[in-house]
Amino acid sequence: MKIAILGAGVMGRTVIEHLKESPIVTDIVAYDTSAESLEETRRKCGVEGSQSLDEILGDPKRKLVFVTAANGAHKDLAMASLRAGKSVMCEKPMATSLEDASVMADEVEALNGFLQIGFELRYSRLYTTVKKWIDEGKLGEVRNIQCNYICSEFWGRDSWRTKLAAGGSMFGEKLSHYVDLPRWWVRSPVKEVYALSSPNVVSYYEVRDNYQASCKFDNGAVSHLTFFMPFSSTSLGDPLLDLLDQQKEDGHELRYLVMGTEGAVETNVFGRTIKRWAYRETSEGFHAEIVERGAWKPEEDHFYFHNTHDQALDIVRRVQEGLPPSISARDALETMKVCEAADLSVEQGRAIEMKEILPNNPPKRA
Ligand SMILES: NC(=O)c1ccc[n+]([C@@H]2O[C@H](COP(=O)([O-])OP(=O)(O)OC[C@H]3O[C@@H](n4cnc5c(N)ncnc54)[C@H](O)[C@@H]3O)[C@@H](O)[C@H]2O)c1
Repeated sequence: MKIAILGAGVMGRTVIEHLKESPIVTDIVAYDTSAESLEETRRKCGVEGSQSLDEILGDPKRKLVFVTAANGAHKDLAMASLRAGKSVMCEKPMATSLEDASVMADEVEALNGFLQIGFELRYSRLYTTVKKWIDEGKLGEVRNIQCNYICSEFWGRDSWRTKLAAGGSMFGEKLSHYVDLPRWWVRSPVKEVYALSSPNVVSYYEVRDNYQASCKFDNGAVSHLTFFMPFSSTSLGDPLLDLLDQQKEDGHELRYLVMGTEGAVETNVFGRTIKRWAYRETSEGFHAEIVERGAWKPEEDHFYFHNTHDQALDIVRRVQEGLPPSISARDALETMKVCEAADLSVEQGRAIEMKEILPNNPPKRA
């Protein structure tokens, strides 16, 4: 299968390295508006690049494209690729506005095409373990999910991620993952979102550097995310690959506590641990004991955290076999709606009901 990588930065090169392992993939070409990015990709990955999108999309044998460009380019690249008849994997966030994300979901359905959105934490061996335990009933009914995510300001002053036009809201760029997981685990629609954010510590960001966001689900479950990206020592590198130890030393923390009626799970990415408790009611009250513990080696970090490896290979297989995406555009749009509701809640200082966030008519934010 011939594949194109649209956006030859860090993520584009990461995907290229994954795809090299696939026996199905016969040819990879990179596209980027930056000649520098293409040259770096040629040098580091041995993959040739082109600055002609028309040429790449005009090749009928190039069946699948990965949209790995900066967020502001996602919609145009994904739409052009879908219209050229390509199957598309598009990185999160779907787009920098809910209107654009909604147009993408409508388009792929109208074309009966393939569009998978890159919520690759749904491939993480850590978070799929949580999902499996929930689906097996080991936690009973999930009632409450707490996520604490504290990381240093590792992007730096000039990153496109700090600019609203290029990156969109921090909620979409970074936190969409961490509201997507509770949606996937709880299996009930989000009903209401309430979010707060203080003025930034990182003064040079156009985006917010902190959020507290709570979601209430239709089935009564509640999830809460605390996010803070303060100054501290900074790794200034790719935080997703080999730097988990460095991140831990930088004071990064990313923990989930998922509490159900019959048990609980705690995941600690930077500590490389997962624990499961089972509850028992005794004559004295509730008794909880740890019944399962897991850990992994540093060299397995990629599979237990941002598992873009298994995601990329699974998408190639799905396209080859004519299967639908594992995370559809419509499903991903629901996560993007939660992100929009969180920003709207911060702005308006009130809880937002999800029914206010209509896919084709989202309320305007300032
Ligand atoms: N799923 C994850 O955990 C995860 C992790 C990292 C990055 N990402 C996503 O991957 C994407 C890329 O991130 P990155 O870390 O590689 O950033 P990067 O800055 O390293 O690379 C972005 C590339 O996009 C190119 N670009 C910008 N506008 C373009 C356009 N209109 N057409 C073609 N190319 C264009 C830039 O020239 C640059 O080479 C982002 O959407 C980001 O959110 C996801």
